[in-house]
Amino acid sequence: MADNYDDLQQSYGRCLRGKNFIERFYEIFLASHPDIAPMFAETDFQKQRMALRRGISAAISHAAGSTLAKRTIDQMADTHSRRGHAPVPPALYRYWVDSLAQAVSEMDPEATPQLIARWRQGMGAVVDTFVKHH
Ligand code: HEM
Repeated sequence: MADNYDDLQQSYGRCLRGKNFIERFYEIFLASHPDIAPMFAETDFQKQRMALRRGISAAISHAAGSTLAKRTIDQMADTHSRRGHAPVPPALYRYWVDSLAQAVSEMDPEATPQLIARWRQGMGAVVDTFVKHH
């Protein structure tokens, strides 16, 4: 049977209900590797938090095989490719996934090791797509 990643959609909903989920993610992420904070030196975080909030949603749909999410994912992949306005060296993606896993384990009251492994699996799909576009 197709995997809809309903468990991630629900976990993400619980995380967002905690209010400061995206802020907490960026706190963890910017501290996770010395190359990362400088990449956000000029960033308007008000906008960026909204963009990532939608981005994670699209990433979950993409992991579930949604064709509706494809355009959004392709645009994000272009933004992060070597020709995009925010190029990301592929080696840094594991810090993004680790930071998200950390933020979810703190903010989702129903987080379990199994659920965190599912997040890593689901977000692995979007990271693979970004790396292929690099
Ligand atoms: C190591 C991993 C990553 C780094 C270092 C990174 C860095 C950045 C930077 C520097 C920007 C531009 C901010 C600005 O406009 O000032 C950005 C934008 C964005 N990122 Fe990432 N990113 C990473 C991974 C991801 C992933 C995996 C997603 C997918 C969920 C994502 C979604 C977005 C979105 C939606 C935007 C806004 C797009 C736009 O402004 O056109 N990023 N990222």
